[in-house]
Amino acid sequence: HKNGLQVAIDGPASAGKSTVAKLVAKKFNYIYCDTGAMYRAITLKAIQNGVALDDEKAIAEIVKNSKISFTPDENGQRVFIDGHEITQEIRSEDVTNSVSAVAAIAAVRKQLSGQQQEIAKDGGIVMDGRDIGTAVLPNAEVKIFLVASVEERAKRRYKENIQKGINTPLDELQLEIEARDYKDSHRKISPLTKADDATEIDTTALSIESVVSEIAKVINSKLNLN
Ligand code: CDP
Ligand code: CDP
Repeated sequence: HKNGLQVAIDGPASAGKSTVAKLVAKKFNYIYCDTGAMYRAITLKAIQNGVALDDEKAIAEIVKNSKISFTPDENGQRVFIDGHEITQEIRSEDVTNSVSAVAAIAAVRKQLSGQQQEIAKDGGIVMDGRDIGTAVLPNAEVKIFLVASVEERAKRRYKENIQKGINTPLDELQLEIEARDYKDSHRKISPLTKADDATEIDTTALSIESVVSEIAKVINSKLNLN
């Protein structure tokens, strides 16, 4: 692609996708795009508008009439919907526990994956999500599938929450993560699954730096620098 490779990073909740995707993008001077933020944005707007999460028609209207945009930032990206910044709000527990239902709606996936393809079309991008390597960018030159044990992922979320002053018990977080992974892996349209040609990395016992360098190796081998 004109601006470089397409790098797709998929995997379950809290496997470390956005953390390492941001760092990989920085390293290669690529754009970073967090597709989960787009599903979260639509979910937030549905909640704010008092729309029931199973009202597919109303949610399809929302996705059709919303403008999601990103601006780069030293912490990754700021997220806007219809011009309002929602970077923090889309991380609330309310949104987190509702997003998988919204992400299962066909009209939502169709619209958002189209926007994602447009954002990625010239390459030079690291995009993270659940279906990037399988559905959004099936021809991406680099596909990474990050996994980690659910216990480790719950601990990571727990630590992040503590820093934000939220004190949800660890076992509750683990149940939430399991429920979301189950929904994301069992939906009809583009469920969370590893692409056949993706490189799987188990991050359970790896530092952020080692995951980044593993991914950089895969990218460099594609760029024929090795
Ligand atoms: O960061 P975290 O693992 O909590 O999730 P996220 O990447 O922000 O994604 C939130 C939710 O959006 C996921 O649980 C999926 O339901 C949905 N999602 C999706 O369906 N497809 C994507 N490409 C990205 C996210
Ligand atoms: O995007 P995703 O939900 O996959 O994960 P994340 O939002 O990047 O969160 C992962 C959390 O685990 C962050 O707090 C990271 O600092 C931490 N972590 C990691 O990402 N990778 C490791 N190898 C170790 C810890």
